[in-house]
Formats: sequence, C-alpha cells, structure tokens
Amino acid sequence: MGTIKLIICKNENEISDLASKIIVDLVNNKKKSNLGLATGNSPIGTYKKIIEKYNNCEVCLKHVRTFNLDEYLDLKKDDFKNSYEYYMDENLFSKTDIRKKRTFFPTMLGNKPNNDYSKFEDKIKKYGKIDIQLLGLGTNGHIGFNEPGSAIDTRTRIVDLAQSTIDSNSRYFKSKEDVPKRAVSMGLGTILEAEKILLIAFGKEKSEAIKNFFSKEEFHEDLPMSALWNHKNVYIIIDEKAASKINKDKLSNFLIENE
Ligand code: GLP
Repeated sequence: MGTIKLIICKNENEISDLASKIIVDLVNNKKKSNLGLATGNSPIGTYKKIIEKYNNCEVCLKHVRTFNLDEYLDLKKDDFKNSYEYYMDENLFSKTDIRKKRTFFPTMLGNKPNNDYSKFEDKIKKYGKIDIQLLGLGTNGHIGFNEPGSAIDTRTRIVDLAQSTIDSNSRYFKSKEDVPKRAVSMGLGTILEAEKILLIAFGKEKSEAIKNFFSKEEFHEDLPMSALWNHKNVYIIIDEKAASKINKDKLSNFLIENE
C-alpha cells in the first residue's frame, strides 16, 4: 500500500505556488530532470509561476526533458489551437528556455510526429524515469485521459473519451461536435512508474472524485485516480473546495502541513 500526502491550500494561487516550487527545486537539484506534464486549466497557474521564476533567473530549464500525459486525436485541421502541443507552447515552452527537441508527447517526439506509442515509452526509459509527474483531475476521476474502466497496468495507448469528458472539455471548442472522441494517453501503469506524483485540483467540481478517492483506500477501476494508492510518493495538493467532501475522520491520516 502506498503513502498519500494531502495538502489543503487556501486557493488556486497557493496550489500553484507550491507545485511550481516543488518542480523548480527538483530542476535546481537535477538540471537534466524528466518532467511529466499535464494540460487543462489546473496547471496554468503552476506554469505561470515557473515562467516567473525563470524570468527572475531562479531556474534554468534548458536541460530538462518533458513528457506530456496525453494528446487529442482527430482534431480538425484548423483546430491546432486546441491541441495540447499548442497549449504547452503557449503556456510554458515558448516562454522559457525549454528546448523543443527535448519535449515529448505520445504523438510528437521532439519535432517528429509519432504514432508508435511504444516509442514514447522507450523515450521515458531511455532517460531513466519521470522524476515528477504533474497531474490534473477530471471531474469523473480520470488522470491523463485514463477514463473509468482503465486497467491498473495500462500503457500509452489510444483511448475513447467518456461522454462526461467530451461534455466538460467542450468549453474549449467552438461546438460540442468539434471535441475529439479519441485521444492518446499515458496509461495508469506508465504514470505509476514516475518517481514522485503531484496531483493538483481545485474547485467544488472536483470534490466528489476527491471524496471517492479517500473513501476506499485501494484501486478500483471506476475511479482512475485511485491508481495512486499503488504508488509510494504522491502529493495531493487541493483547495478547500475540492477537499470539502472528504470524510473528516480520514483527513488526519493523510493531511500534512504546507511549510
Ligand atoms: C483533461 C486532461 C486531463 C486534465 C483534465 C482536467 O481531460 N486530459 O489531463 O487533468 O482535463 O482539466 P482541468 O484542469 O481543466 O479541470
């Protein structure tokens, strides 16, 4: 059984402060770090703060390698702005000294398009392992695009998106019809091989998944996030709203202070 450390922050800003500090500290200790990165709304503040620290010369990122969790498939040709590759360029890569050739997505290895997903996994292995994997959380409990029903040992593969994910992600698209129905995602097995995992989540929309996670302290396929019970070094960094439904008796077992 793994060890979960829960940190409850006041708000999104505090979450971003802490997550960015953990990532920057790692890179300052190991300049060739392997960073597992996520997309969505949740990590935007974390990336902003990493950019701030880079601009203040508090960190140099030119030797890091990045591995993104997932990418859409079947995006319309004129919809590149909804790709996670575009998101990462906009929200982090182009604003720091991260080198494009050291950025890896399941569908893009450096500058080369890829559709052999075992090669993406091989890249991770080539550089050792992911030092820190940053994760957001879907309202249905997904991590990456591992939807409910994903097995604990899944690897990077094509996945069908759950209807709830399509509905939730439609806010980023012109219409619901434009949301891809498929994606490529690191598997739960891939994610669990990271050295350390940081899951960040805020807002009451995430509170049900968080409550379910703490209600059963083991993996169950209907809540992909629960795979994290099988890992030894997980930080769950959430705000008070996302934490609001956790059974109070559970809190003291996992809660640690944000020093
Ligand atoms: C998408 C991504 C996930 C992300 C989730 C939550 O579905 N594939 O990796 O964690 O959205 O997104 P948000 O942070 O916008 O709530």
